[in-house]
Amino acid sequence: MAKKIRIGVLISGSGTNLQAISDSCDSGKINGDITFVGSDNPGALGIERSKKRGIATFVVDYRPIIQSCKKDPNKVSLPDDFDLDDVLSKQNLFSSNAPPEKVRSFFTTRAVAEAKLIDKMKPYPFDLLVLAGFMRNLTPYFIDRINTDPSNPRIMNIHPALLPSFPGVDGYGDTFRYGCKIGGCTIHFIDYGEDSGPIIGQRAFRITGDDTLERIKEKGLKLEWELYPECIELFARGRLKIVRMSYELENGKKIEKNVVKIL
Ligand code: GAR
Repeated sequence: MAKKIRIGVLISGSGTNLQAISDSCDSGKINGDITFVGSDNPGALGIERSKKRGIATFVVDYRPIIQSCKKDPNKVSLPDDFDLDDVLSKQNLFSSNAPPEKVRSFFTTRAVAEAKLIDKMKPYPFDLLVLAGFMRNLTPYFIDRINTDPSNPRIMNIHPALLPSFPGVDGYGDTFRYGCKIGGCTIHFIDYGEDSGPIIGQRAFRITGDDTLERIKEKGLKLEWELYPECIELFARGRLKIVRMSYELENGKKIEKNVVKIL
């Protein structure tokens, strides 16, 4: 039997995906154990769920950090290893015409919060970091400290839409309001953009004329609870490999992309 993987989980809300992952670890569907659950939100229900299960938990409350950085930008104490130019050269969250002051302020503020997250995670070594409804974008500062080997990414995210459609904070809502006839969920590795990393797995459901947004969320979540454990187990079995693909477009332009190959 292969060694169990150690899974760290970050959440912001109710934690039903966390529950599905935890159940799958208990039943052996995932060859792994959850080593910690962290949150940016002190009110996250998933933190209570985890405590009941005897899982180590912590909270890094982003809100007061963001408020105090906004109030007193000159007093912000940045982590020693933070390099704003490096982060700006890598980030893909803001377009090049976004106001530079806003972009700088976002990345410095986030570095303060992310350094605290990294600090809280230190006592719990992990092989895979799973974002299960974690509603904060992670920046290159954090990502580079977790993905120390760029060819072996180890931060997974679940998104409530069929990416690359409808990235952002309200995937099911955007799918519904667009009038889509099919919705779905996506598991992907995190990269420097918003919901843009290499796709590991997707699952789709039909949307009928009677479906409300609530019903769409129900259909989607049911699939999320199946898909996330399956993708984590693929990781645990060493079956996910990143390959660099080159494609030539019709206009002759060449593009390169990291994609996930399932071995
Ligand atoms: C899920 O629908 C997940 O796909 C979504 O948040 C919900 C969390 O539910 N994630 C995102 O929107 C990430 N951008 P849960 O807390 O019950 O697992």
